[in-house]
Amino acid sequence: MDSFLIRGGTRLKGKIEISGSKNSALPIIAATLMAKGKTTLKSVPRLSDIDSMNKLIGELGCHVYRHDSPASDGDMPSLNGPLDIEVTDEKNCEARYDIVKTMRASICVLGPLLAKRGKAIVSIPGGCAIGDRPVDLHVRGLQKLGAEFRTENGNIVGEVRGRLKGCRMYLGGAQGPTVLGTINVLCAAALAEGETVLVGAACEPEVVDCAEMLIKMGAKIKGHGTPEIRIEGVSELIGTEHRIIPDRIECGTFMIAAAITNGELELRHCNLDHLIAVQDRLEDVGVRIQRENGTIHASSARRLNTVEMTTQPYPGFPTDLQAQLMALLCLGDGISVVTERIFPDRFLHVGELNRMGARIRKEGPTAIIQGTKELQGASVMASDLRASAALVLAGLVAKGTTRIDRVYHIDRGYEKIEQKLAAVGADIERVKEK
Ligand code: EPZ
Repeated sequence: MDSFLIRGGTRLKGKIEISGSKNSALPIIAATLMAKGKTTLKSVPRLSDIDSMNKLIGELGCHVYRHDSPASDGDMPSLNGPLDIEVTDEKNCEARYDIVKTMRASICVLGPLLAKRGKAIVSIPGGCAIGDRPVDLHVRGLQKLGAEFRTENGNIVGEVRGRLKGCRMYLGGAQGPTVLGTINVLCAAALAEGETVLVGAACEPEVVDCAEMLIKMGAKIKGHGTPEIRIEGVSELIGTEHRIIPDRIECGTFMIAAAITNGELELRHCNLDHLIAVQDRLEDVGVRIQRENGTIHASSARRLNTVEMTTQPYPGFPTDLQAQLMALLCLGDGISVVTERIFPDRFLHVGELNRMGARIRKEGPTAIIQGTKELQGASVMASDLRASAALVLAGLVAKGTTRIDRVYHIDRGYEKIEQKLAAVGADIERVKEK
């Protein structure tokens, strides 16, 4: 397992290219299972989670081909070549435990398989580092469309007699809307008979991106990006070409990297509209954020103010940036309060940040952060993707050397993070496992 060695204390300055969104690309790749003919996806990041999803749809009968990286793709420089996907065999309907256990987003094939093939066997995703992550809302929504479910040997087995049938349904749960649940039901409803109305749908940009691609494939969808999505089912979807939206979480992480190192970064090809709550909180902390077309300039004043922040569904502050903001608030001038409403146990970074000299106390779903003048380098352990990103941020500013073990968690969701950071002045190196 690789590690990162970070010698903290350098000011980051320069340009960083933001990759396509992991959380948009994953369900979109799964949705291509429903299309006839070839789909070409652009700006798909090269990440281990994307490799897992490609492997999964490969097992489900898709031919997947990644083109070489072009030097430049029109006015949108791209790190990666496009990804072509074409379904060539519809016999297999099973997402095996071996893949599902490495990537929970495998659940995204459930809706597309039921809608297109009438059957799906998906291993039930187990526990997860960020807490319980049930899939009951996915199943309930698909049941309302007429799918029948049973559990068998650790698998969810779903079947459809004839065609799924549209209906009006409420999709929310105890913690609010579900992102991937909304996408699963949206995909299935695109091929169902009649109209489906999803009330309490997630409004995240990743849901909108998936809906936009389905529309290009021939789906009839309105209201995506609002809590009520209307879908008029069609009988077939045809392969298309689609560019994945920029990764708002990667972008937010680098905005915080600029702030924590008292640096100045130009983040290219990103969408500040997707980060409005993040901009709001960061500006209160004292981060200067300016937009110029598709570029964000982020820099910070030396003094970091304290804030209160609660994670919420979009357009609120995303849970996926909670850990990274907390790393920044460790250096705030006083006490900050962070409450996690989406995944109340998502605090694995707290203990590791405290090992680096942070002063964070957890009380239920809330963390109370007493700012300190300095963090110190230490050996720490990456636990989940975003907690690990928080440790990288802390390492960038800590005095001395920080060693982060198990960086495979970071490789799941941040494309070439050490190369991107090194290019703007960070002293970071990957130590390969011997
Ligand atoms: C997506 O997960 C993201 N994953 C997560 O990103 C992100 O943290 C999360 O949305 C919230 O924004 C991908 O897009 C691949 P949810 P998802 O269903 O869709 C509860 C990252 O670091 N719930 O919106 O699985 C759930 O427990 C990751 O990139 C149910 O109760 O999250 C949570 O409290 C990790 N029953 C809340 O809803 C269900 O059936 C929201 O979860 C489904 C969810």
